[in-house]
Amino acid sequence: MTSFKAGLEDIVALRSEICFIDGQRRRLVYRGYDIGEFIGKATFEEVVYLLWHGELPTQAQLSVLREQIAAAQDLPKELIDLIRTFPRDAEPMAVLRTAVSALGVVDPDANNNDREANLRKSVRLLARLPMIIAYHARLREGQEPVAPRSDLGLAANFLLMLRGNEPDQLETDIFDACLILHADHELNASTFTARTVASTLSDIYSAVTAAIGALKGPLHGGANEQVMRTLLEIGDPERVVEWLDQALENKQRIMGFGHRVYKTGDPRADFLRQFSQQLGEKRGDTRWYQMSRRLEELMFEKKGLYPNVDFYSASTYYMLGIPIDLYTPIFAFSRVSGWTAHVLEQYADNRLIRPRAEYAGPMDLQFRPLAERG
Ligand code: CMC
Repeated sequence: MTSFKAGLEDIVALRSEICFIDGQRRRLVYRGYDIGEFIGKATFEEVVYLLWHGELPTQAQLSVLREQIAAAQDLPKELIDLIRTFPRDAEPMAVLRTAVSALGVVDPDANNNDREANLRKSVRLLARLPMIIAYHARLREGQEPVAPRSDLGLAANFLLMLRGNEPDQLETDIFDACLILHADHELNASTFTARTVASTLSDIYSAVTAAIGALKGPLHGGANEQVMRTLLEIGDPERVVEWLDQALENKQRIMGFGHRVYKTGDPRADFLRQFSQQLGEKRGDTRWYQMSRRLEELMFEKKGLYPNVDFYSASTYYMLGIPIDLYTPIFAFSRVSGWTAHVLEQYADNRLIRPRAEYAGPMDLQFRPLAERG
């Protein structure tokens, strides 16, 4: 047996053809394409197709996928009824986790584990996650839900369903690129969770529900919300130094910095930094971008740490008018493409994931009956 490694750091747990990360060279590769290849050139839907099928779609294949997504953009009545029973202040990630689990209850393909059935379910998950997020977000504000439009892509439709107005081209392009940047990331905690569930030959809804639970934690997807709360708490670029000194003195973890794999910087942050700046300039308010830049410089100076994907996505989403507690659900909306790709790959060549633990407890104790234990 190999020796114990806390947090499974650097342990190669399986073989995959989906995503490659080079933590020293700041590289993130989906199916052979560096992430930068897509930005400004591809839509999220094209990248989803690539993750699922291993190659980029032709125009005809992309049209079919778009039609399938549009056909699935309708929430089952049972689900709407369920969401309506949740308290208004329910945590959006808890709503999403519960709703996705419920989708599995009403899916006609629920227990069909063929690849074709799993692709149909993956399309439904991709189409419906953003609908659940937007539906609940409007409901809690006392607003009517907004229906998606079949002529818009997933990115523009989400902003439309959430805000009630159609995003402009810059907003659409930036949000679409954000979805691409979050789509997959090798064996992060939530993807590993999804694959572990799938490896028992459980169904894809169970795998995605479990993955949402893993993503929710502040050390994983939950960090982006904390980043925005930090920026709001600091409030002014002039206050960054003072705030950070205090936080580091209190041994606080600064959200949006550091990464288990990237040790010379997260390539996704380079694009997100630009988006934060572009949206700030468009709105004539670069305060959040400036504060973020200052924090980035100081964190490198003081701790040698770089921003990760969650850092600049926070101010980018804020300037897109997205409520803070939806940042992690949006991560799930994008990452469901990667989770489902990994689940499909796991089913295609499955072996039960079942590691070992190094036992560190006592041995050879003698049992004393309850009556003798006082
Ligand atoms: N702020 C302050 N110190 C930090 C931070 C941080 N954000 N990240 C790491 N460190 C320090 C940590 O205190 C430790 O120092 P020491 O050795 O003196 O105790 C050292 O760096 C190594 O940290 P670690 O926790 O052992 O490293 P890890 O590989 O287990 O953790 C991490 C990676 C992402 C959990 C961690 O960097 C962190 O907690 N970051 C903040 C949360 C965050 O932004 N999470 C999003 C991750 S990227 C998106 C995703 O994949 O979901």
